[in-house]
Formats: sequence, C-alpha cells, structure tokens
Amino acid sequence: MASVKPDHGAVSCEHGIYLMTEHDLLEVVEIEESCALSRWGWDAYREELGRPESMMYVARWRRPNPLTERLVAGFLAARVTAGEMHINNVGVIEQVRGRGIASELLSVAVADALSRGVVSAVLEVRAGNMAAQSLYRRHGFEIAGRRRDYYSRPTEDALVMTAAFGRRA
Ligand SMILES: CC(C)(COP(=O)(O)OP(=O)(O)OC[C@H]1O[C@@H](n2cnc3c(N)ncnc32)[C@H](O)[C@@H]1OP(=O)(O)O)[C@@H](O)C(=O)NCCC(=O)NCCS
Repeated sequence: MASVKPDHGAVSCEHGIYLMTEHDLLEVVEIEESCALSRWGWDAYREELGRPESMMYVARWRRPNPLTERLVAGFLAARVTAGEMHINNVGVIEQVRGRGIASELLSVAVADALSRGVVSAVLEVRAGNMAAQSLYRRHGFEIAGRRRDYYSRPTEDALVMTAAFGRRA
C-alpha cells in the first residue's frame, strides 16, 4: 500500500503510521482490552491480517515510549467490503490520547481506501461515545442511522456513521 509512508509520523510525536504486522498483535490486543472495545482478540486479528481486503494500521514508536513502555500507541482495523471501507476498531492508549494519533490513523486509512478506489466508509459507534463520534465527524462522517441495543456489556445503541469521500473538502 503505497500511501503508508514509513516516516509519516517522524515529524509528529516521533511515531509513524505503519501497516500492522503479527509482531504488533500482543500490544494491539492489550490496547483493545484497555479501551473496552468489542473484543476480537489475537486469533481474529491474526486471521484478519491475512485477508487481502483488510486494512490494519498501527501508530508505532521507534523505541518503547517512556510514558507507556510500549511500542504501539494505537491501532485501526478496517476492511473493504463491496467497495466500501468498514471501520471495525480504533483505539489509542489512554496516556497518549488527545495528540492526534487516532486522527493520523484515520487519515492514512482513508488515503489508502481512496487509492483502492473506495469512496465511502461506514462504522458503528456507541451512542454515548462522544470522543469517537467527534473524531469521525472531523473526518467527514455523518450519522446515518441507529441500531437499537447493538452493543452488550453494557447494552447500548449503536450509531451508524457514514462518509462519502468524494464529497470531502
Ligand atoms: C476515540 C479515540 C480513538 C480518539 O483517539 P485520540 O488519539 O485521542 O484522538 P485524536 O487526538 O486524534 O483526536 C482527533 C479528534 O477526535 C475528537 N476527540 C478525540 N478525543 C476527544 C474527546 N475526549 N472529546 C471530544 N472529542 C475528542 C476531536 O474531534 C479531535 O480533534 P481535535 O483535537 O482537533 O478537536 C480514543 O479516545 C480511544 O481510544 N477511545 C477508546 C476506544 C474507542 O472509543 N474507540 C472508538 C470505537 S468506535
């Protein structure tokens, strides 16, 4: 995927955005668990990495970050289905939120989607997750619907958010 630049993040926060590899998975699963995201787990991510339609990225430091003692700061897991990008999971370690890491991950994913000829995206987000909704709105997503009691533990509605990249400024 040509649009993932190895040095993309070198000028910002000393991390880069990279395609996820199997070496990232232990940390990705840790982040997933700490974010209380819908659980995939190691095996599901491993399987997903092998699919040509998957789009999986990490924000990774070159050396373990002194604050988190980890290499991976955050991740984004998406998949292209029927010409549309479905964003499945996005998570950033709590100590380094608010620094634009999720935004960078999403920008790279959208750029890659466009390079594949994908012009729309869809995702579900907890109705009460204002931070994530704000992130997605900032990247051109709008609320398109609601799925009643979509999430469990705790039970909560999902908002369906969609973006049509061709209409982005
Ligand atoms: C949602 C999440 C991924 C954002 O990660 P992040 O790296 O802190 O986000 P960024 O710093 O890139 O912020 C980008 C934009 O998101 C929005 N945003 C992020 N955190 C926010 C918050 N706490 N409150 C309101 N808006 C927020 C803002 O619009 C922000 O843009 P701005 O800084 O120009 O205002 C992170 O809070 C997280 O991991 N949460 C737990 C997991 C989760 O909810 N994932 C989404 C599942 S659908």
